[in-house]
Amino acid sequence: MESCLLLTAASLLLLCFARTSLGDVFFSTLPQTLVVTASPTQGQVLKAGEDSITIAWGLNQSFPEGTDSSYNQVKLTLCYAPISQADRGWRKTEDNLSKDKTCQFTIAQKTYNRITQNFTWIIEKDIPTATYFVRAYAYDSLGNEVAYGQTTDGKKRSNLLKVEAINGRNLSIEIASVCFSAFSLLSAVGFFVVEKRGRRLVKN
Ligand SMILES: *[C@@H]1O[C@H](CO)[C@@H](O)[C@H](O)[C@H]1NC(C)=O
Ligand SMILES: *[C@@H]1O[C@H](CO)[C@@H](O)[C@H](O)[C@H]1NC(C)=O
Ligand SMILES: *[C@@H]1O[C@H](CO)[C@@H](O)[C@H](O)[C@H]1NC(C)=O
Repeated sequence: MESCLLLTAASLLLLCFARTSLGDVFFSTLPQTLVVTASPTQGQVLKAGEDSITIAWGLNQSFPEGTDSSYNQVKLTLCYAPISQADRGWRKTEDNLSKDKTCQFTIAQKTYNRITQNFTWIIEKDIPTATYFVRAYAYDSLGNEVAYGQTTDGKKRSNLLKVEAINGRNLSIEIASVCFSAFSLLSAVGFFVVEKRGRRLVKN
């Protein structure tokens, strides 16, 4: 009897969690009440694992008092710009936020504060080469998105930042060194052949 009750309680709890995590929040329904800015200038190229960006966020003061009364947490995310989503289904934008793949990287999660905050983030080593913008989501105490703000305009064309991944850099260095080795090998062989032929010529 007791274990049965416990089981029921546990499944009810699970059900609750399942419900809250489902959410069914659509991006197009969220008000843009947060002002978000990032330090890089338009088109600046940042190196993953080395360069950092400073992000500032806060409530747009032109919204009435109480706008942010349900805001509990803020999550800063790094999001793919349309140019880096083309032909890549795994980065696709979906209005249903539980399906959306635009903002795959969490920069930080903070308790909401109406005073403008800032955070400096070293671009993590695993961020792929792409063009991005920064978006902040405000969450209520149930963990549902209730508002947002972003560094770019609605069409996601202005104030974009570019990240160059470590892999890309290593790969090009590797390719360069492989080419260089091949070139050295070829020139060594070439030199050897030329020299041998030269000796033969001298002999004959
Ligand atoms: C703040 O919100 C107003 C009204 O929506 C908007 O016109 C203005 O551009 C916003 N300010 C910033 C800095 O985003
Ligand atoms: C939103 O996406 C989730 C996850 O795929 C799905 O379970 C839910 O039914 C979708 N909501 C709507 C209204 O389509
Ligand atoms: C970041 O916040 C600190 C206080 O928390 C403040 O002193 C500093 O000026 C802010 N920097 C920017 C770039 O807004």
